[in-house]
Parts: sequence; structure tokens; C-alpha cells
Amino acid sequence: MRQFPATRLRRNRRTDFARRLVQENKLSVNDLIYPVFITDESKRAKQPIKAMPGQYRYGLDTLLCVAEQAAELGIPALALFPKIDSKFKDANGSYSARPDGLIPEAVLALKDRFPELGIICDGALDPYTSHGQDGLINEEGYVLNDETIQALCEQAIVCANAGADIIAPSDMMDGRVGAVRKALDQNDFMLTQILAYSAKYASSFYGPFRDAVGSDTSLGKADKRQYQMDPANIDEAFHEVELDIQEGADMVMIKPGMPYLDIVYAIKKKFGVPTFAYQVSGEYSMLRMAVDQGILSSEAINEALLCFKRAGADAILTYFALELASSLKSH
Ligand code: PBG
Repeated sequence: MRQFPATRLRRNRRTDFARRLVQENKLSVNDLIYPVFITDESKRAKQPIKAMPGQYRYGLDTLLCVAEQAAELGIPALALFPKIDSKFKDANGSYSARPDGLIPEAVLALKDRFPELGIICDGALDPYTSHGQDGLINEEGYVLNDETIQALCEQAIVCANAGADIIAPSDMMDGRVGAVRKALDQNDFMLTQILAYSAKYASSFYGPFRDAVGSDTSLGKADKRQYQMDPANIDEAFHEVELDIQEGADMVMIKPGMPYLDIVYAIKKKFGVPTFAYQVSGEYSMLRMAVDQGILSSEAINEALLCFKRAGADAILTYFALELASSLKSH
């Protein structure tokens, strides 16, 4: 390789045109999935989420306005998360299987108005359980794997039946991707996709989300380390992804995002399948608050998301989706 002074890497950085020509990675609106919170409190609700400035819980009517914005900006898909009244919560999260539940109602309304907008439904029981865990528990509070899978299959069918395009199991039970695939196929939903939260770590960065869906008070001092992954592990993520692909996942996901970009990079390289990353609530809130307080410039948001592309993510779930899509449009 030629050395300085013949090689001057700064030559390509001097002008804007040259920087644009040599740029290796780009963010596009096609990379974005917007996670949206829904409440059953009232149809016209727009409740600010304290721990996530700029994000709201929407009622079924106001949700349509958000979906319209997303569709107009060209955002490919929304991921829906419910906050239901605590009177609907029980130990088994049985509300999750109700065809007239908040999520199926929302999916029906969205698909009716915006058929082209992709709709992703989370597969997990935590918004519905009185104890805030993602599945059914025994007397010791241990989350029961196989019993939970049964409930997840029912939830997936209810969502698919309402028109959900993608089911995204986020619960980290063993074997749930295969079981959900089988249940979908048996019910004639062979074209419903599965986005597996394959490598989901037991992370403190989910804090604001648990406030948003109301699972924090239910969960109390308990944690999810008996099913979500240890942040120290990499090989285990490979193992999880490998199994999910074998079980029929159409896309795999790594979560959280920015602190786990080494995992995103390694998984994309190793498996070469559609690999998504979730810039989770805690990452959003940190950046949002720093930008709102003038500590960081808003360019930091674009930079943070571009890093996901550099790491190899095909799509990014981000609470910044709407504002990023508008800024990409105006550039
Ligand atoms: C729960 C679920 C969580 C998130 C998505 N689905 C939280 C958790 O596992 O406690 C977190 C998303 C975020 O923090 O933005 N199944």
C-alpha cells in the first residue's frame, strides 16, 4: 500500500461532492419501522409518555392520524404495542387471545384505511399479565416455556386473523418460532411473516417502554433474566438466531440496538438473512433528552441510526422514524 505523502486520504474528504461520491452507507426511509403505543382509554387519546418525550399512547382514532403520517412519509411498517386497562390483566394474560382486543381492533382499522402499510404485532404476554412477565408463571414465579408457547400461538392467530402482516415473537421462549409458524400455517396464514426477536438481551434500556405499556408496575422488582439473554454473550446469540432460522423465521432481530451493534454485525455476516435491529426506548430517551436540552445536536440522531446501517442492519425499529423520515425527505 502506498504511503504518505503519495496517499492522502483527506483528498476525498475535502469537498462535499467528493464526500457524497465516496459515502459507503445510507439511511433510507425504507429502513424504518415505527413502534407505536396504543391505549384503550379513549379513541381520541394522545397521552404523553413521561419517560419518552415526544412519544404518545394513541387511541384508535388518533392512531389513524399517525398511520397516515407514516404512510405519507413512505415508512414501510408500524409495530404496535398496547397499554390496556389493568382490569383486563390476569395471571395468564388471557386478554391477548381476545379477537375483540385492543390490538386486533387497531389492526383491523389500520388495514382498512392503509392496506399497504405493513403492520407488525408483538408476540408476548407482558402487556396483558398481572405480573408483567412475558408468559405464564408457576408458583415460584418461573415463566413456563411450553404453556406460554400455546398462548403465543393463540395470540398470533388472533393478530393474523385481524390482518397483521408480521408476527414478532419477543418473549424468548424456546421453540416458539417453530410453534407459531406451525399454528399460522395450520390456520391458512402461510404468508404471514415472522420477525423473530432472536437475540433479545435482558437489558436495562427497556425501562421507558415498560412505563409506556404499563408492565413496569406489574413487574415490580422482578426481572426477565430467566429468558432474555445475558448482555455478556455473543455465541449464544448465534445459537438463538440459527434455531430461529431453522424454525422458520423470515427475519431475525437483535435488541437493544446501539450497545449491541457488534452482535448485529456478526449475525448479518454469519447468516446473511434479513437482520433487523431495535433502537429501544432507553436509547431513544437518552438521545431525545440530550438533543432537547441542547447537549447534542439533532445530527446525533441521524448518526446513531446510520451506525445501524454500517453494522449491517437491513431495517431499524426506531421511535425516531417519523422525524427521520421527514428529515430524509427534505434533504
Ligand atoms: C416485551 C417487549 C419489550 C420491548 C419490546 N417488547 C420489553 C421487555 O422485554 O420488557 C422493549 C422495547 C423498547 O424498550 O423500546 N415483550
